[in-house]
Amino acid sequence: MNPTETPHPVRLDVQLGRLRLANPIAVASGTFGYAREMAGLVDLARLGAILPKTITQEPRPGNPPPRTVETACGMLNSIGLDNDGIEAFIAEKLPYLASLAPATIVSIAGRTQDEFTRMAARMDAVPGVDALELNVSCPNVTGGVDFGTDPDSCRRVVAGVRDACSLPVLAKLTPNVTNVVAIAQAAEQGGADALSLVNTCLGMAVDWRRRRPILGNVLGGLSGPAIKPIAIRIVYQVAAAVDIPLMGIGGIANINDVMEFLVAGATAVQIGTANFYNPTVSVKILDALPDALARLGATCVADVVGTITKQ
Ligand SMILES: Cc1cc2nc3c(=O)[nH]c(=O)nc-3n(C[C@H](O)[C@H](O)[C@H](O)COP(=O)(O)O)c2cc1C
Repeated sequence: MNPTETPHPVRLDVQLGRLRLANPIAVASGTFGYAREMAGLVDLARLGAILPKTITQEPRPGNPPPRTVETACGMLNSIGLDNDGIEAFIAEKLPYLASLAPATIVSIAGRTQDEFTRMAARMDAVPGVDALELNVSCPNVTGGVDFGTDPDSCRRVVAGVRDACSLPVLAKLTPNVTNVVAIAQAAEQGGADALSLVNTCLGMAVDWRRRRPILGNVLGGLSGPAIKPIAIRIVYQVAAAVDIPLMGIGGIANINDVMEFLVAGATAVQIGTANFYNPTVSVKILDALPDALARLGATCVADVVGTITKQ
């Protein structure tokens, strides 16, 4: 028996603006390849959504190695959006993703507002894409982070994409700002269907014996359990300030983490770093979700979203 069905009378489907997911458990961009790599390990059909690695207009070689380093309760990466470009993605990766049951949310990153718009229009023209996630928050490429740190630029990018295509649009925001609420509100004003919160936290690791940075690109993005409190704080703050749904991302590794994000204000979640050391984590979380929701007396996911109260 599939544990997500009877005997639990709990509905798992969620609505993110115009995008409907069969359940709220998704895998985060850059941590699940293009899904085919994971097919032997994970029952992909069970996932609510798959977010493949961010694509750019042109191929990118990414940053010099080393590109990852383990840290206390997390990891730093400076991959630098290594990808083969949008046309290779459409030809070689998208058909497989489109053949799977989960929603395919394609993550795109433009160097300019115009490039974001053109990429969105291109993705709109091919079958198999369920939504776009705008990566305005990658800390590992120059330029990319700017759209996510300035409210006006963020609003313009989202509005441009919204006008250029008919797909649901999610904006993925960076935690590396003073006032993330202002950026979130700008994305909402631009017409985002939902917000993905958050990308990695800018960090650095040092090899003191050699007196050198460990990462080839010097700085990198911190992810994993170390950033969970930051991500939950941002979900909580943004949920109080916008009317669009949120996907929580950051350090999720088990069912308790997911429930914390939902209660704090997320409608769905994305699992990232945990995929690297436990590829089946998403499915295990999904198995545990109906019981966890039922423990709060919920009959659907929305019953618990944002229900946190101050003591
Ligand atoms: C190795 C690695 C590569 C990543 N690549 C991307 C990417 O291409 N696009 C993106 O939006 N986020 C990328 N991320 C960020 C994750 O999608 C996620 O937002 C972040 O890691 C926080 O979630 P986590 O703590 O569960 O990993 C990457 C993260 C890691 C660890």
